[in-house]
Amino acid sequence: MGVNAFSNEQQNTDNGLEAGRCRPPRQWRDDPVPEKVDVDSLSDLATPWSLRVVVTLGVAEQLAAGVTEIGDLARHVECDRDCLARVLRHLVGKGVFEEPVEGEFALNEAARSLLRSGPLRGLALDGHGGRSATAWNGLLATVRTGQPGYQSVFGRSFWADLDADSDLAASYDANMGRRAGEASDPAILLDDAWTHVGHVVDVGGGTGETLAEILRVRPTVRGTLVDLPRTVARSTEVFAAAGVADRAAVQGQSFFDPLPAGADVYLLKRLLLDWPDEQAVALLTRCAEAAAPHGRVVVVGGVSPGRAAASAGLLMMVQTGGKPRTLDEFRGLAARAGLAVTASGHSPSGQFVAECRPEAGSTARKANALR
Ligand SMILES: C[S@@+](CC[C@H](N)C(=O)[O-])C[C@H]1O[C@@H](n2cnc3c(N)ncnc32)[C@H](O)[C@@H]1O
Repeated sequence: MGVNAFSNEQQNTDNGLEAGRCRPPRQWRDDPVPEKVDVDSLSDLATPWSLRVVVTLGVAEQLAAGVTEIGDLARHVECDRDCLARVLRHLVGKGVFEEPVEGEFALNEAARSLLRSGPLRGLALDGHGGRSATAWNGLLATVRTGQPGYQSVFGRSFWADLDADSDLAASYDANMGRRAGEASDPAILLDDAWTHVGHVVDVGGGTGETLAEILRVRPTVRGTLVDLPRTVARSTEVFAAAGVADRAAVQGQSFFDPLPAGADVYLLKRLLLDWPDEQAVALLTRCAEAAAPHGRVVVVGGVSPGRAAASAGLLMMVQTGGKPRTLDEFRGLAARAGLAVTASGHSPSGQFVAECRPEAGSTARKANALR
């Protein structure tokens, strides 16, 4: 089967919470606690902002292209020479970039990760990355009120902000799409038994990277991508590039409205993390209604066997009010949506998957759906 199915007992062991065992407080959490803590450097904002500025300016790209002298560099990225030099020297001191000769800068291994094609390109301030950085200004409001502080910073909710700004929405979709493309593991079923799967609906599937990969490796399966109209409109090239356009349908709609019914699998990947409990139940309810009586709802991301790392989902807390959930917490939400968790465990690539099936005759589904 290639998966680790978890009994409740095993989950508790993973979580360090064995019944009847009393441990010192530090050990019930998985996050390592450093021996020595430098609060000054933890609270210093110079480094995170300097990194974002050089990514936004494309400094690493210029260095990669051979523009290394600070005056030339400043001209190419249209900046003040001295201010740029001071920011770069700050980063050199932190181990990012080198200055082998005074006024000449160079990439090192850490700086190469800042190339826009590299893993840290989401730091750029000129789109969704900038919004995410500034959104941290809302942490205080979030902690005070329990509500996402994004609204207090930008004057509207995260989702309303994307709705109102088409460039921002495009940047968000591109960032999500790149991340989905990098992590598109098509092994989303715990039993890996695809014989009886003819139709997969990827709910909130973004621009289609994950669904395209599923269809590419499963030539008999067809798929439907459900996401907001502006987002599914960007999937055409993704499906064409994967050679699966003839088996991929798109449905531009809210996933809080009724979903295409009768598919075998409803995939929710990296989705529940975005939503507070009430909306998560509503979304699961829509999936349960559409999947009943024989389909499965497969949740990947945002649910873990034990408690997630303390930092997981903090940005979601500020932006959307979402949060990571333990499997037991997720079970509770699923039950409210008329779903029973029938399997859970790690897929061969290590992602944690929870599979649910609609409970026969559930009245919870109707009671919990948002319109
Ligand atoms: C974090 S992304 C996850 C995308 C994809 N599942 C992945 O793994 O990359 C969340 C997705 O939910 C979509 N979304 C947000 N609100 C939605 C709604 N009300 N109806 C449909 N899609 C929505 C967004 O457009 C975005 O594509």
